[in-house]
Amino acid sequence: MIVRDTLGAAALAAALLVPPPAAAADAARGASLAAPCAACHGADGNSTTPLVPSLAGQPPVFLTLQMVLFREGIRAVPAMNAAMEGITDRDVEDLAAHYAALPPHTDPPHADQPERDAAKAARGAALSVQHRCGVCHLPGYTGQNQMPRLAGQREDFLLHTMQDYQAQRRTGTDTTMNAALYGLSGQDLADLAHYLAIQR
Ligand code: HEC
Ligand code: HEC
Repeated sequence: MIVRDTLGAAALAAALLVPPPAAAADAARGASLAAPCAACHGADGNSTTPLVPSLAGQPPVFLTLQMVLFREGIRAVPAMNAAMEGITDRDVEDLAAHYAALPPHTDPPHADQPERDAAKAARGAALSVQHRCGVCHLPGYTGQNQMPRLAGQREDFLLHTMQDYQAQRRTGTDTTMNAALYGLSGQDLADLAHYLAIQR
C-alpha cells in the first residue's frame, strides 16, 4: 500500500486525540450502530438520497477523520453534527470499519445517476489528468488513507462538495482540496463530478 499521509491529517488526528485506527476495530459492532445512518446513507452504505454521500468502500482512515470533524463541529453540516452526538472514538472506528468493508455500487453507480454524457465524461477525464486528481485519490479513484474514494460516488454530492471546498464552506483535515480546485470553473466541476461518478 502506498502511504501518502500528510502532516495536516496526522497533526489533526493527534490534536483531536484520535487513536490510530486499531487493528481491533469491530465491523460487526459498527453495523449494530449504523441503523440510524441508513435512513440517509442507505442500508448497504450506498446512498439513494440526493446530496448524501455513499460510504461503502471508503478508506477507514477517511471515514474516521470525517466523523471526528463532524463530531467536533469543524465540518459544519447540521444533520451530521447531530448524527455524531454522543458517538465515542470506539464507535467512530467501528462504524468506519463497517462502512469500509461494504461493497460500493458500481454498475450503475446509483439508480438516480444522471444519464451518461460522453462529452462531459471526456472533459472530466482530461481535467482529472491535468489536475492530477489520481495522484492522491489513486488512478482508479478508490481512495487511500485520508483521501476518499471518488469512483461511483453520487454525482450530485461530488459537485456540491467541490463547490463547498471552493467557497471555503467545507473544512477538511488539510487545505489540499481548496488548492486542488483553485481556478476551476463551475462547468469544470460538473464535468469532473460526472466523470468520477461513472468510474467503476
Ligand atoms: C439526516 C441524514 C443523515 C444521517 C442520519 C447521517 N448522515 Fe452522514 N451525512 C449526511 C449528509 C447530508 C452528509 C454530507 C454533508 C456535506 O454535504 O458535506 C453526510 C456525510 C457523512 C460522512 C462524510 C462522507 C464523505 O464522503 O464526505 C460520513 C463519514 C458520514 N456522513 C457518516 C454517518 C454515520 C456513521 C451516520 C450514523 C451514525 C450518519 N452519517 C448519519 C446526512 C446524514
Ligand atoms: C494532493 C492530494 C490531492 C489531490 C491532488 C486531489 N485531492 Fe481530492 N482530496 C484529498 C484529500 C486529502 C481529501 C479529504 C480532505 C478533507 O478532509 O476534506 C480529498 C477530498 C476530495 C473530495 C471529497 C469527497 C468526499 O467523499 O467527501 C472530492 C470530491 C475530491 N477530493 C475531488 C478531487 C478532484 C476532482 C481532484 C482533482 C481536480 C482532487 N480531488 C485532487 C487530496 C487530494
